[in-house]
Amino acid sequence: MEQVATQDEAAAAVDAGSQSPRRVFVKTYGCQMNVYDSQRMTDALVADGYSSTDRIEDADLVLLNTCHIREKAAEKVYSELGRIRDMKRSREQAGGEMIVGIAGCVAQAEGREIIRRAPVVDLVIGPQTYHRLPDALRKARGGEKVVETDYAVEDKFEHLPQPKRAEIARRGVTAFLSVQEGCDKFCTFCVVPYTRGSEVSRPVRQILAEAERLAAGGVREITLLGQNVNAWHGEGPDGRDWGLGRLLFRLAEIPGVARLRYTTSHPRDMNDELIAAHRDLGALMPYLHLPVQSGSDRILKAMNRRHKAEDYLRLIERIRAAQPSIAMSGDFIVGFPGETDADFEDTLGIVRRTGYAQAFSFKYSARPGTPGADMKGHVAETVKDERLQRLQGLLNEQQEAFLRSRVGLAFDVLIEKPARRPGQLAGRSPWLQPVVVDETAGGIGDIIPVRITKAEGTTLFAEPA
Ligand code: 5AD
Ligand code: SF4
Repeated sequence: MEQVATQDEAAAAVDAGSQSPRRVFVKTYGCQMNVYDSQRMTDALVADGYSSTDRIEDADLVLLNTCHIREKAAEKVYSELGRIRDMKRSREQAGGEMIVGIAGCVAQAEGREIIRRAPVVDLVIGPQTYHRLPDALRKARGGEKVVETDYAVEDKFEHLPQPKRAEIARRGVTAFLSVQEGCDKFCTFCVVPYTRGSEVSRPVRQILAEAERLAAGGVREITLLGQNVNAWHGEGPDGRDWGLGRLLFRLAEIPGVARLRYTTSHPRDMNDELIAAHRDLGALMPYLHLPVQSGSDRILKAMNRRHKAEDYLRLIERIRAAQPSIAMSGDFIVGFPGETDADFEDTLGIVRRTGYAQAFSFKYSARPGTPGADMKGHVAETVKDERLQRLQGLLNEQQEAFLRSRVGLAFDVLIEKPARRPGQLAGRSPWLQPVVVDETAGGIGDIIPVRITKAEGTTLFAEPA
């Protein structure tokens, strides 16, 4: 689920009943799920009278929405807290206030331990309890150290306020929508089943209402999010059990919604209905993030992925038969305990046979409490480095080949924002690459036909077709 994106979130209002505006600064680590959650937390705080800032120095409340997926991600939080400590100290010396909150997966995994290690923290709140954030903050502002990491019995989404229409518009023409949270797969390397809990699907009614709201606010493209998004299911208005494929068809009927995406999927949950949606639903973009992690059956077994390399390759054949233009994306881990040179060669092999438009690769990081951490045969860091370099070399070649293969093609681009250079606009291809066109081609929110003239780095340049 991880997309190496760090995004600062903010919103604006005035503290109810007081003259001084109370401002929040949110910093997001990790995956798109966290980006979405940060927006929803901001919405909850705005509804509670908070205002916003994208400058940490101006904030009365600093919220770090954290990631626990690898050790490096978790440690980033503590180095940031070191800087925040000095800021808070000088604020308090000047008679002011700065509340520091830790949200997200580090909060869930480490709980009160965070406050022991970093006493600057006032509030620790896990991903299942964001609807309790305003109350928790009131306690924290009263001087209490607050830890909220229970798996809430009530549905947090039912209680989180929706953003105002103007705020939706400010966030742009593409939006994330969480439809599923948690994971029951228990891959032996992964903390997610422990930090995000077991699989929960949001009800159809709630998802449709949120999508309609987004569309009314000008959103043209919605990306459905879930740790195991293709395991989503729910009772439809027809009384039947809907899967993700059926949901996508229904979402495409909402006026204004032109493009749909979803992430992240598990190979075992790619059912026929979803594959058929890639064939029959024009609004569903031809891009699929389908992590395989390793190409070795021995390692796949040790990872508890519960499928073989051949199963994955056959699945991709079926998906490509349904939608030949699909761009594949994936995640890989090198140096899982017990991984030999031969196992690693099998990973290179599955990459060569699949052909990825884009992919993420990581060195295995032992996470406390996961079965992988206690396995024998941990791989030396130098070996991991070497394997990662070779794998990334191959994946980069494939990505470049994919970009080059777009040059000369004509397709539709959704215009999202002004490009860096004045006079130009930036959008996305159906396969998720950034595309730059001249601003005379259209406006933000338009979907325009273009022809690609060149590829530079990971960006495509286009002229109106
Ligand atoms: N070490 C390294 N990479 C990991 N991932 C998940 N857990 C670990 C870990 N312990 C990777 C997987 C997953 C992506 C989100 O992060 O490839 O698909
Ligand atoms: Fe990080 Fe949690 Fe997202 Fe996994 S689910 S990538 S641990 S934020």
